[in-house]
Amino acid sequence: MRRTVRDVVFVDGVRTPFGKAGAKSQYAETRADDLVVALIRELMRRNPQLPPEAIDEVAIAATTQTGDQGLTIGRTAAILAGLPRSVPGYSIDRMCAGGMTAATNVMAAIAVGGADVAIAGGVEHMTKHPMGEGFDPNPRIISEKLVDPAALNMGVTAENLHDRFPHLTKERADAYGVASQEKYAKALADGKIQQDLVPIQIWSSEKGWGLAVADEPPRPGTTMEGIANLKTPFRPRGRVTAANASPLTDGATACIVAAADVAEQLGLPAKMRLVSFAFAGVEPEVMGVGPVPATEKALARAGLSIDDIGLFELNEAFSVQVLALLDHYGIADDDPRVNPWGGAIAVGHPLASSGVRLFTQLARHFETHPEVRYGLTSMCVGLGQGGTVIWENPHHADYGKENDK
Ligand SMILES: CC(C)(COP(=O)(O)OP(=O)(O)OC[C@H]1O[C@@H](n2cnc3c(N)ncnc32)[C@H](O)[C@@H]1OP(=O)(O)O)[C@@H](O)C(=O)NCCC(=O)NCCS
Repeated sequence: MRRTVRDVVFVDGVRTPFGKAGAKSQYAETRADDLVVALIRELMRRNPQLPPEAIDEVAIAATTQTGDQGLTIGRTAAILAGLPRSVPGYSIDRMCAGGMTAATNVMAAIAVGGADVAIAGGVEHMTKHPMGEGFDPNPRIISEKLVDPAALNMGVTAENLHDRFPHLTKERADAYGVASQEKYAKALADGKIQQDLVPIQIWSSEKGWGLAVADEPPRPGTTMEGIANLKTPFRPRGRVTAANASPLTDGATACIVAAADVAEQLGLPAKMRLVSFAFAGVEPEVMGVGPVPATEKALARAGLSIDDIGLFELNEAFSVQVLALLDHYGIADDDPRVNPWGGAIAVGHPLASSGVRLFTQLARHFETHPEVRYGLTSMCVGLGQGGTVIWENPHHADYGKENDK
């Protein structure tokens, strides 16, 4: 039998409202797996043309895979969501790019005929599972100086990046953080953010049952003056503060991806077409620069250049790390193609979830930007990695034509 590589499309994506991690988080007493279950059920509700038994895989990422994020969460969430027992699932981890990797794995499987339709997503309940929970690094990592111990604290790696690129000043990082808050606030006021948010039933022993309907982390009205003198928790007189870093966050995301021909047969929408993806490694102590080589690889694989990209959804783990990518390509800090609805500095970054939030948001931008043919989603990853996925806009006049140069 002759095998061919098939086109893969992004069908739909959803997320929970995000919670600001801590005792007061809206999800403090809600299970992480229940967040994923609610999203799978909502994806099925929004796409009734998709027979549940047609789902070939449920891949869910979590950075900490114990407790309510353990037990092969893709499989347990599929069962809890009421999908048929015949639908398999698994868990996956690439820290911040867990959800992105869940999606690229199942999309690669679809491309070679190992699946037709799949659900991919991620969850991170950073209140219940703080970064580094249960972590037992091999002593050789330190004794053989394989990785600078500083590389194990993401905020310190962001300070290191400021050292490496001194022209990426605290002022630029703060201005980028303020802009992220402003763009998010405008998108929220315009009703953009709400489109793919799934209300989540929550429990609080103080308030009883409730419904989470909105993101908690954003800080509307953030000003340069208001954040100028915030503490720099990762280094005395450093540059990284709570206002130019993503906050600790609780939340989940999920999406449906499918072979383009199968989506068409089932009557499922194709909101984006996968063009290429790449992951790359960098020195762990400057992990934030990871998106640069990942993007170079993904562009090369697509036969595209950065000038072909009309929209960017970049995960804002830290301002400096986004600025390092923009600076590399000569893109202005305030380029309107970048994160038009703000980013993780405002909305939050529930580690393994964030990649699928970028996809879902890019798909929304494509709907209103038919002039843009290609969009790019990218993020940095702990221990020195980056991941980039490039997508094509089905609303563009040349969609489907011989492309990717
Ligand atoms: C940076 C970090 C340590 C801050 O944590 P925190 O101190 O709990 O954050 P808070 O929200 O309490 O903010 C700290 C202070 O800054 C203030 N602040 C934060 N953002 C602000 C804003 N946009 N405008 C004005 N003030 C702000 C808060 O009000 C608070 O002030 P207070 O100390 O007077 O109460 C934490 O968010 C963090 O670790 N982020 C990085 C997460 C990460 O590494 N993710 C993985 C990436 S790879």
